[in-house]
Amino acid sequence: MKKNEKPKTGMARLMQLAMTKKPLVIASVILASLAAVMSFIPYLAIYQIVKEIISVYPNLDTLNQSALFNYGWMALGGMIANIVLYFGALMCSHLAAFGTLYELKVNFSSHIAKVPLGFHLFIGSGKLRKIMDENIENIEKFIAHSLPDIVAASVSPIVMALILLAVDWRFGLTAILGMAIAFVLQMSMYGNEGARVKMSQYQTAIENMNNASVEYIRGISVVKAFKQTVYSFRRLHDTIKEYTAMVIPYTLSWENSFSAFTTIINHIYLLLLPVGILIGMNTTDYQTYAITFIFYLIFVPSIASILMKLMYVNSDSMRILNGIEAMDKILAEPELSEPDHPKTTKQFDVAFSHVSFSYDVSQEVEALSDVSFMAKQGEVTAIVGPSGGGKSTIAHLIPRFFDVQEGSVSVGGVDVRDMNREYLMNQVSFVFQDVFLFKQSIKDNIRLGNKNATDAEIIAAAKAAQCHDFITKMPNGYDTVIGTKGIHISGGEKQRIAIARAIVKDAPIVVLDEATAFADPENEHLIQKAFEKLMHNKTVIIIAHRLATIRSANQIVVMDSGYISETGTHEELLAKEAKYAAMWRTYNQTSTWTMKTKGSV
Ligand SMILES: Nc1ncnc2c1ncn2[C@@H]1O[C@H](COP(=O)(O)OP(=O)(O)O)[C@@H](O)[C@H]1O
Ligand SMILES: [Mg+2]
Repeated sequence: MKKNEKPKTGMARLMQLAMTKKPLVIASVILASLAAVMSFIPYLAIYQIVKEIISVYPNLDTLNQSALFNYGWMALGGMIANIVLYFGALMCSHLAAFGTLYELKVNFSSHIAKVPLGFHLFIGSGKLRKIMDENIENIEKFIAHSLPDIVAASVSPIVMALILLAVDWRFGLTAILGMAIAFVLQMSMYGNEGARVKMSQYQTAIENMNNASVEYIRGISVVKAFKQTVYSFRRLHDTIKEYTAMVIPYTLSWENSFSAFTTIINHIYLLLLPVGILIGMNTTDYQTYAITFIFYLIFVPSIASILMKLMYVNSDSMRILNGIEAMDKILAEPELSEPDHPKTTKQFDVAFSHVSFSYDVSQEVEALSDVSFMAKQGEVTAIVGPSGGGKSTIAHLIPRFFDVQEGSVSVGGVDVRDMNREYLMNQVSFVFQDVFLFKQSIKDNIRLGNKNATDAEIIAAAKAAQCHDFITKMPNGYDTVIGTKGIHISGGEKQRIAIARAIVKDAPIVVLDEATAFADPENEHLIQKAFEKLMHNKTVIIIAHRLATIRSANQIVVMDSGYISETGTHEELLAKEAKYAAMWRTYNQTSTWTMKTKGSV
């Protein structure tokens, strides 16, 4: 799509997507139209047969048998041609649909990989999954099935109207009048803005419910531990209630118009009766009259199935259009800009220069306000401060999970926005408090840090991260697949696997955001020892709430409500007798208190 083109919406967008495989779609449309035309041949043949019979009635032995047979073959031929052509149309449309599905999925996946990583913090994975699995598959179904049906359903009424008018315009007009009434009703059900709004509310309600139930199931252990029920898990409860409140009146609102619609299209022939009687009273040619009347009585009920098809196609495409909208909304999410002339660096000081950042620009409070500091290569920089102070935000900005709104983050003097994203990612190892492990073997999980790592390197890293012992105790050791039944890995163990991952990555910048929060002090000490060796000549940024951990850091940055309140070494900050000194006192009281209780037990 060209940049200056306005993005298409609704049906136009759907057709644009369908046209990804243009030749196949066109072939399918042509075959489906021909199939639709063929579907009327049996009716015409029957009309001819009735005409033959009535013209000789009651002397049936003068019947032109070979003509009758020919019409019989014609009817059969029409049917077979219809089936074969429709089959061909479906073949083409399925090929087109799978091709489109493939491209859409690749396109969507590569897009969500290119939006700022932080974007995934906001949008539920349930929503992305639904778009991937349902919305995009619906587009496939639309192209494969609905498209040929829409073509058939649009060609059929035209052919039908022509036949209706050609045989006898008076009956024809009556039947068309019936169709028109049904059509107007149908439009009033689906065509208006209200119905569209309702449909999108319905979709949102389902999405919210999906997201909430995924969350509920993920958090089931917490829910159970605190003896909560589905009722007290407010979010899920609320979304279910919202959905119910929405869907019941919505369903009921269809009641009247839908019944009216079905009644009318199934009984158009009733309109023919008075017209037939009127015509019959004024006719002298009873033979033609009877043939025509019989023909209309046979032919007109088929209108119902054709219009019904059109209606389902209509309601289907509305659901799909909403699905496409959800997909397009995410596709419209700006991707992280890639520099035209990417720069690299040989030096790895990390510098924040007058950085201001908020997660939501419309909010007044910033997560970071005018933050400037330099984390030198070969040194450990610790970031401390109360919860919500902006520590994790600093960690997120270094690998460019988000772009800053003001100021800059640079590595070795190069703005991170001027680096190739993959290059930048390769320069930073990070371990966050929430560790995600894939359903793969432990070995492969560690190898994610560096796909070329040898088994020996992986084991060395695991030993350094203090996870070798518990891994070897697992049923299949390093080949144990995470997430299989009976395999339990604690939060602390997960963190240590993630640390091993960071160690094999061996990147020049290491960011640890409460990475050892779950480790017991003994393990933490060992992990730190291991890190000290690995940290040689690296830029290390540690966020920790156990102040003892960071006591020896070369520099401590104290954050408070998004501002830097002070920086310095442990001794310098203690001498200042300000925020850090107070934190240190509180920390010591609580930790000695812990030791005492431990000793006294
Ligand atoms: N994903 C997010 N969306 C919106 N606000 C956020 C998000 N993450 C953090 N914040 C806000 O930004 C501020 C700083 O948070 P954070 O950097 O996580 O603090 P810390 O790690 O020091 O506890 C807080 O006010 C927090 O509420
Ligand atoms: Mg944090």
